[in-house]
Amino acid sequence: MTKPIIIAIDGYSSCGKSTIARALAKRLNYVFVDTGAMYRGVSLYILRNNIDWQNSSEKEVESILDKITITFEYNAETKNSDTILNDENVEEEIRGKEVSEVVSQISQLRAIRTRMVSLQQKAGLKKGLVMDGRDIGTKVFPKAELKLFMTADPKIRAQRRFNELKSKGKESSIEEIEENLKIRDYNDTHREEHPLKKAIDAIELDNSYLDKDEQLSWVIRLLNEKKLS
Ligand code: DC
Repeated sequence: MTKPIIIAIDGYSSCGKSTIARALAKRLNYVFVDTGAMYRGVSLYILRNNIDWQNSSEKEVESILDKITITFEYNAETKNSDTILNDENVEEEIRGKEVSEVVSQISQLRAIRTRMVSLQQKAGLKKGLVMDGRDIGTKVFPKAELKLFMTADPKIRAQRRFNELKSKGKESSIEEIEENLKIRDYNDTHREEHPLKKAIDAIELDNSYLDKDEQLSWVIRLLNEKKLS
């Protein structure tokens, strides 16, 4: 058994980052952290409390963050971990349209990014971690032992998101989803603070035509080649 490592997974929205990150964590018996869920939790709190975040100072945003605790709790039914915002399970709500429409803007705020990055770095102190997001390999863990950058055909990404929402009984249209993904990609790659970009030492995985098991085998092979497992 080699030493536990940090695996950083970055990429565009709806590229299946969390799916492979979760499967990988299960296989390696590692902790999995979905950092998008953290930004979504903060966004939900801001929406629910009608906070005028666009006109809030950095100090004000910091004091809002002081009122927020985000944790993860294992759900035996789904066998995944749910996002808990101040003791309330918000897993369903943070994936909804309202949050999806604002999260890429809210997550641009410097005070929010600073706080989230610091929490994420704490989660990696003991290593043995798979973390997915937009700035994990570039900002949160620039020294991660393995960095993956996921991509997929935009049409396939939109179809996946559509299927995911449909399976949860949520109404949407492919066009609407494509538009939302386009806006989020733009915001995520053009923001000032920690924009999404491929780390120079990240390995790209285009999973347009790969299922979960194929992706998992691909990563495990990579870990073996690099003598990281
Ligand atoms: O992974 P996701 O789609 O659930 O992420 C939601 C949003 O959060 C996404 O539009 C960008 C933002 N995000 C970020 O800025 N940095 C991260 N590390 C993770 C997510």
